[in-house]
Amino acid sequence: MPRKIFVTTALPYANGPLHIGHIVDQLYGDIWVRFQRMQGHEVHFVCAGDTHGAPIMLRAEAEGISPEALIARVGAEHDADWRAFLMSYDHWHSTHSPENVALSQDIYKKLKAAKLIVSKEVEQFFDPVKGMFLPDRYIKGECPKCAARDQYGDSCENCGAVYAPTDLKNPYSALTGAKPVLKKSEHFFFKLSDKKCVQFLQEWTKETPLQTEVVNKLAEWLADDKETGGKKINDWDISRDAPYFGIEIPDAPGKYFYVWLDAPVGYLASLKAYFESGKARANGEKRSFDEFMADDDVEQYHFIGKDIVYFHTLFWPAMLKFAGRKVPNNVFVHGFITFNSEKMSKSRGTGVSPHHYIKLGLNPEWMRYYIAAKLNDKVEDLDFNPDDFIARVNSDLIGKYVNIASRAAGFISKKFDGKLGKPQLPKEIAREFAGAADEISGYYDGREYGKAIRKIMTLADLANQYVDTNKPWELAKKEGSEAELLTVCSTAVAMFRDLTVYLAPVLPQLAATAGVMFNFDAFDWKTAAKPLKEGHEIKPYKHLMGRIDSKQIDALLEPAATDANKKTETAKADAKPANGEAHVAVAAEFALVPPEPPKPVIIQPIAETISIDDFARLDLRVAKILDAELVVEADKLLRLTLDLGIEQRTVFAGIRSAYRPKDLVGRYTVMVANLAPRKMRFGESQGMVLAAGDGTGIYLLAPDAGAVPGMRIK
Ligand code: MSP
Ligand code: ZN
Repeated sequence: MPRKIFVTTALPYANGPLHIGHIVDQLYGDIWVRFQRMQGHEVHFVCAGDTHGAPIMLRAEAEGISPEALIARVGAEHDADWRAFLMSYDHWHSTHSPENVALSQDIYKKLKAAKLIVSKEVEQFFDPVKGMFLPDRYIKGECPKCAARDQYGDSCENCGAVYAPTDLKNPYSALTGAKPVLKKSEHFFFKLSDKKCVQFLQEWTKETPLQTEVVNKLAEWLADDKETGGKKINDWDISRDAPYFGIEIPDAPGKYFYVWLDAPVGYLASLKAYFESGKARANGEKRSFDEFMADDDVEQYHFIGKDIVYFHTLFWPAMLKFAGRKVPNNVFVHGFITFNSEKMSKSRGTGVSPHHYIKLGLNPEWMRYYIAAKLNDKVEDLDFNPDDFIARVNSDLIGKYVNIASRAAGFISKKFDGKLGKPQLPKEIAREFAGAADEISGYYDGREYGKAIRKIMTLADLANQYVDTNKPWELAKKEGSEAELLTVCSTAVAMFRDLTVYLAPVLPQLAATAGVMFNFDAFDWKTAAKPLKEGHEIKPYKHLMGRIDSKQIDALLEPAATDANKKTETAKADAKPANGEAHVAVAAEFALVPPEPPKPVIIQPIAETISIDDFARLDLRVAKILDAELVVEADKLLRLTLDLGIEQRTVFAGIRSAYRPKDLVGRYTVMVANLAPRKMRFGESQGMVLAAGDGTGIYLLAPDAGAVPGMRIK
């Protein structure tokens, strides 16, 4: 009996580009979905942009556009990036949609009718200049414990103290620099501490096969509070005052749902829009969203990262339960990806931006393969390491798997008219292959993708050993060995076919291409059990996948991508509560607007007119900074080593006050390449880099992404 399954992945914030962490997140779900579809189950897989909240409103304002325009643009970008990474959503939607308004308001009304909504007066910091209540992350000041300056309103990055924004000394608004004032306002709360809620959550925890790490967290959150005799869990503040970009709360003018209330409802909204589009079908039959969700046999799963467990295992099931809806059958949680073992966004090179990756023409399946090989069923962090990435893809994926096809298929086309003989696996290999289908399927179903891939690679090793032992390239030269050659190559193709089926959830594109080339059947899991027939025809072999060149990775890690990554981080402000869980780890490192008001810039008069010929005498070039060092003898200078494409130059630049050497390495800039060299005490300066500045700051020029060292600027 095919199962009926509804699957979602986390809805990425719609205010900035995606980063590599988002790939981990979506891929965790996509592989599972593809695997279940290959089992013949009916899977409906949806995602959407998470579009509401203060950061989105402020970001749109900073860009001078409406929030609607911002989220439409970013939503379309994300959708396109995800298609490029082969995420197999049935539908991509937005939380800023009529379906989400209707569903969120409906759920809220039901919770209210169940007496689970209360209102309380709350006193909070208000920015009198901006005229809005400030989320904790937009308040800065001195740490009440260690007096470190410029700390956020919820925790100190210097000493780690956690506190309320009102505890900060000399607080200021990170938006305007103004001193915030305390102001009262009415807020709505979801009564999570209500007995029936806690009881339900305890039952739900027991009957749901959650991951151990998640069960432990829940036990902590739902524990008794020894001091009060009640429960530790707090009621949840679900309202925000205007101005706010979100969904209005019914019968409460000027009040909006906090973004985290309507975000998970977005899962349902996306599914609803999908069903209403008429595309969702079960056994060829159209069904309504309501019918589908009322079906008890339908299973509902959410794939998420570890920082949002709180929302998905407490608020979300409770909201659904008391609104009379289906509750999740499980929530599958993955850990965080680090870059070279460092937390993302800290160092150079953290900008593995999916968008940049695709634009550079890198193969999305390399990344899918690499990340999948590191994913398992635990809430465990994983690391992206560029050298490891190149090695795994080139030696395993290409060197082991693709290699089998390229070694065997050519002979079939050249010598046997493209027709296979009868594959004959040696006994021990046949035994390994026969047992593999169930083992690998168990791994995929249990989200042990790393184990699945390791198993597939041991099979690939066997296949390669078989080819090595039987040496088709020698058989091809030997008179009278045609029959043996045909058997060896056909056997290799047959093993390759099975591996292709097993890898298809991770490498859907490659599987499809190989499928067409080798005329394999549709890729369901049972394909692997059916032996390839004698006379099966294949098309001539074309190379299936290229190797990664380390230069491509260098290009990927250029600063352009890093900047994109920084912007994403602003999205985090306000987004996640700081109640001591893992969430805090990702909290914003970049305030939306620098806290100190900029010094006034004095604009100098325009210089004397020159002719185009005067200008043409300047040879300006794009240069890549290969190295930057302090100059011991001169405290204003940095010694830069620049790559001009055809040669390298040393330039002494007076930019030390504005840049740390290590932040410059890898960046692109603009240099005057035909300036007469100048002898200095500590060496020769062979040109000049360009920067803006008039005494208040120094701003190095940089070309747009795509420019290469040596390009002339005209
Ligand atoms: N908008 C919320 C989710 C709402 S779901 C109803 C959100 N968005 S996010 O863009 O910040 O993150 C989206 C997903 O990416 C989350 O599941 C998050 O855990 C995941 N990741 C963000 N950074 C990550 C890593 N560095 N590594 C792995 N996953 C990470 O949270
Ligand atoms: Zn401190």
